[in-house]
Amino acid sequence: MKKLQNKTVFITGGLSGIGKACAIAAAKEGANVAIADLKSDTTEKVMNEIKKENPKAIFIECNVSVFTDVRATIEKVVATFGTLDVALNNAGIGGEPNKIGDMTELQWLKVIGVNLNGVFNCMKHELLQMTKQKQGIIVNMASILGKVGLAHSGHYVAAKHGVIGLTQAAAIEYAHEMIRINAICPGFIDTPLLEKGGIGGNPEMKEHLISLHPMKRFGESAEIASGFIFLACNDSSFMTGATLEMDGGYLAK
Ligand SMILES: NC(=O)c1ccc[n+]([C@@H]2O[C@H](COP(=O)([O-])OP(=O)(O)OC[C@H]3O[C@@H](n4cnc5c(N)ncnc54)[C@H](O)[C@@H]3O)[C@@H](O)[C@H]2O)c1
Repeated sequence: MKKLQNKTVFITGGLSGIGKACAIAAAKEGANVAIADLKSDTTEKVMNEIKKENPKAIFIECNVSVFTDVRATIEKVVATFGTLDVALNNAGIGGEPNKIGDMTELQWLKVIGVNLNGVFNCMKHELLQMTKQKQGIIVNMASILGKVGLAHSGHYVAAKHGVIGLTQAAAIEYAHEMIRINAICPGFIDTPLLEKGGIGGNPEMKEHLISLHPMKRFGESAEIASGFIFLACNDSSFMTGATLEMDGGYLAK
């Protein structure tokens, strides 16, 4: 029995890395998948990979940091599939590394705009729909950096702590409406985000980051996708307001 048969699963940032792995896993479990992401050359290729698992999949161009964009996107998902059963708020950026005293306002606002405001924009509109349905599941992609700090990443660390706070507040507000809201805290995962952060091209930095994980490796997107499927279905029926740490032991130290 497939775990998400005929469910509508909405995923932001679903064209790459963790979001893409979650989209493929959800489609494999029988879900109708709606991807929201920025315009990209890879859209057709990724959507074909998802459609191989379940042809009922759509792409909607959307910048999660723009409130009205998100509203129109969620409306389109519901108009297409009739419901919004599961939402994965995953779109995110690493931001330019900088010490807080040297950080420009623009560097700060860019990361907060996507990684924190983006999650609020999505949750607000998802919850309006899920309240109408009297059921729903939200999963927010936080990070180990939502629990602890990392030098030169103040914007990212602050945004991810905010995502966990939003997850907990919303979980309390909506528990009685049959809406469960949890977050995943991945350790460092081998995705294009790390490449964009310059980690791929810096072997010393990569070795250092790997050494912070007791399992002595980065995670794979598919490993995070298995946690997403767990939170997205009834296997996690008594969980809300929780954070699922999938981090090779990073936070255990
Ligand atoms: N890779 C890691 O080590 C790691 C660790 C912990 C948490 N995370 C989090 O996981 C999530 C996914 O990261 P990833 O590593 O798969 O990155 P990625 O760069 O591979 O994918 C991110 C996706 O988000 C999209 N996106 C970026 N800005 C957007 C916007 N404004 N509107 C809509 N879409 C936007 C990108 O186009 C891309 O498709 C992020 O929230 C990230 O912070 C990643």
